[in-house]
Amino acid sequence: MTDTSANIIKFPEDFLWGVSASHFQIEGYPTEVESRLSDWSRWTEEEGRILDGSNADRACEFHKRYLDDIELIGELNLKAYRTSLNWAALMPEAPGTAVSERQFAPLVVEYYRDLFSRLKEKGIKVFVTLFHFCLPDWLAEEGGWTSERIADEFEVFAALARKHFGDLVDYWMTVNEPMAYIYQGYVAGNWPPGASHDYLGAFVTIRSMLAAHARAYHALKGGDEAVQVSFANHWRPFAPERKWSPLDLMVTHYRERVFNHIFPESIDAGGLKIPAPLSGRKEFRELEGEIAGLKKSMDFLAVNYYTRELSRFDLSWPPDLFGTRSNRADYPVNGLGWEVYPEGFYRVLTSDINPYLTDIKGRQRPVFVTENGFATLFSPELSGGDWSLSDRERCDYLISHLVVLKKAIEAGVNIKGYLHWSLTDNFEWSEGLTPRFGLVRVSYEDQVRKLRESAELYSKIAAANALETIDR
Ligand code: FCB
Repeated sequence: MTDTSANIIKFPEDFLWGVSASHFQIEGYPTEVESRLSDWSRWTEEEGRILDGSNADRACEFHKRYLDDIELIGELNLKAYRTSLNWAALMPEAPGTAVSERQFAPLVVEYYRDLFSRLKEKGIKVFVTLFHFCLPDWLAEEGGWTSERIADEFEVFAALARKHFGDLVDYWMTVNEPMAYIYQGYVAGNWPPGASHDYLGAFVTIRSMLAAHARAYHALKGGDEAVQVSFANHWRPFAPERKWSPLDLMVTHYRERVFNHIFPESIDAGGLKIPAPLSGRKEFRELEGEIAGLKKSMDFLAVNYYTRELSRFDLSWPPDLFGTRSNRADYPVNGLGWEVYPEGFYRVLTSDINPYLTDIKGRQRPVFVTENGFATLFSPELSGGDWSLSDRERCDYLISHLVVLKKAIEAGVNIKGYLHWSLTDNFEWSEGLTPRFGLVRVSYEDQVRKLRESAELYSKIAAANALETIDR
C-alpha cells in the first residue's frame, strides 16, 4: 500500500499572484499592423523568418478584447498583470521635432490608460515594461540599439510614459531580457536586426542598453523615490554538457557570466567591464567604463526563469562565445525542448541572484518572478474541440516551480510575487503561434478563450494563497 498524505504549502500573506505578457505577442494593434510600424511587424513579413509561417497581425486581438481578458484575470483570482508598451504605435513617426516637443499618439494613450485603469479598479497591480523586443521601425532603420540617438530616444519614451501612465503603474521595467534579445538579434540572427555572430554589435548594444536603462530609470522616477523601476533579467543556470571536460567547464562559466550577470553586475557597479578574452581586443575595451546614472539603478529584482542550459566547447566557426548550447536533455522537456528543471529555479533564487539583493541604501530589494511557464505545441489552425485543455505537464511544471519558490522564501529570499507566463496562448517570436504558453487556450480562428486545467489549478492556488501537494 502507498502512503498518501497531503501537504499544504502556505505563501506569505501579501504574496502577489499574477500573469505576464508583452504587447506584440498579444495585441494585434491595428495601426502597427496596417502600417508595419515596428521592426518585428516587418520581420514577420520576411520569408522564412517565422518557423510556422504565422505572424502576429491578429495574435490574441488583445487590443479589441482586453475587457474580456481583464474579466478572466479577475475570475482567476489574480492580482498582478504585466505587459509592455507598444513604442511603435505610441511614437509612429520619425521625429521631426525637438526632443522636448515629442508626443505620444493620443488614441494609443487612451487605450493604455483604459487598460491600466480597469486593472486598477479590480485591485490588480500593474507591471509595465518599456522595451519588450520591439522598436519603432524608424528607429530600427537608424540602427536601433547601435544608433547614437538611442539613449536620448529611450529617455523621451520613458518620460512620456511616466507623464501619461505614471499614476496607474505600480512597477516599471525598462527593458526585458536584454541578453536574450541581444543573443537572438546579434549572434543567432533569429530576431531583428538579424545580425549573426556580430559580437561587436552585441557588446555595443549591451553598452547602449545600459546607458538607455540608466536614462529611463531616472526619467521614470522623476525624482520620486517611491517609484519602483528595474529591468527583467532572464536567468538560466548553465551546466557543462560533459562534467569532466575542463573545456566545457570553461565555456559554461564564460557563457553564464555574460548571459546572466553582465546586466545586473554592470548596474550595481555603475559601468561596463568587458570579460576576457574579448577584453584583449581594443574595439571591445573601448566600450568599458562608467555609465552616467547607472549605479544601483534597480529598485527590485525581476526574475524570468524557464530552464537551464547545457553548454559544450565547440570549435566550429564562427565561434558562438567559444561554446555552444547542447541539444542534450537530462530531464523531461517542454514542446520547445526546454528542460523542466525546478532545481535551477531554486538555484537562481537562492544563489545566482545573491550578489544583487541589496539596493543603494543597503535595503533588501524585493524579488518578483516576472516570467515562468511551460510550452506545448499545437498548430495555429486548431479551433473548437477539447485539444490541449488537459495540460497535466503545465500543471506539474507550475507546482514543482512553486514548491521550490516557497522553499526559497523559507530560506530567507524576499520574494513578493509570481507572474506566470502567460494568461493566454500568444505569438512566440520566431517560433510563431504554435508554441502555447497559455493557462488559457486561444483558438486563433475565432479567438475563443477556454480555460485549461492549469488555469483552474492556478486560480485555486491564488485564491487559497496556498498549494496542496501529495506525497506518495
Ligand atoms: C521570454 C520572453 C517572452 C516569451 C517567453 C516564452 O524569454 O521574455 O516574451 O517569449 O520567453
